[in-house]
Amino acid sequence: MADPTPSNAAALAEYLAWHRDAGLDVATQEAPVDRFVAGESAGASRPRLARPASAEADAARPSSPPAAREAGPSASELAGAARSLDELRAALEAFEGCALRSTASRLVFEDGAREAAIMLIGEAPGGDEDRIGRPFVGRAGQLLDRMLKGIGLDRSRVYIANVVPWRPPGNRTPTPQETAACLPFIARQIELVGPKLIVCLGGSSARVLLGVEDGIMRARGKWRSYPGAGGVKALATLHPAYLLRQPAHKRLAWRDLRMIRAAVAAGL
Ligand code: URA
Repeated sequence: MADPTPSNAAALAEYLAWHRDAGLDVATQEAPVDRFVAGESAGASRPRLARPASAEADAARPSSPPAAREAGPSASELAGAARSLDELRAALEAFEGCALRSTASRLVFEDGAREAAIMLIGEAPGGDEDRIGRPFVGRAGQLLDRMLKGIGLDRSRVYIANVVPWRPPGNRTPTPQETAACLPFIARQIELVGPKLIVCLGGSSARVLLGVEDGIMRARGKWRSYPGAGGVKALATLHPAYLLRQPAHKRLAWRDLRMIRAAVAAGL
């Protein structure tokens, strides 16, 4: 196949802008790879059947040929072996089963108080979080701070993490495989923090952690239970990034915040 890369500067700038707008803002190799050709010989052009999240999680190891690499511990084994949040963080730093770690600048593990009774869980870090290394520090995070302040809370009284701790290129949604690869780690993080209340920020966090199939508009604002860690009271609400785009829906988020405030007042 002829190389489609344009050669003059203006056409090249337009070509790069098109890729950037599509979310492709990280170069992983010097030269492009034609995956259609590469995939045929490796059999990768055939569609994969969907597998349950647990199977994906256990398969979330680099798929090198057995002769080239000894099978290492699975994500579940690594996460389960962590006895503290520091150990879990170290396990994630060493984990090679999620390709996002190679395009992200750094791991975005946590913020807030480790002993907090309320744990807020978002989807994945964005550009600001990737630069600074803490969850929810960009515009959405500033709105989150204002939302917390509205019910008398701040980051000293909550613990914040994401389902996926590395930024997906171009802030795209993590794929089901990426999410499944990271699931044992966020599950262990929840166990180690031991919150009394989990707040899922956005539909993707609610789907992965609470198993809700409804869209976030239907799923939000109802008391639920996170099934891991012995069962934890949970609530899904709108993601602050969504509220920045749809400010009229802040009134719905405010209802959810009032539920949290009432739970705090009642001792959770
Ligand atoms: N959105 C998220 O879901 N998490 C962050 O940390 C930032 C933005």
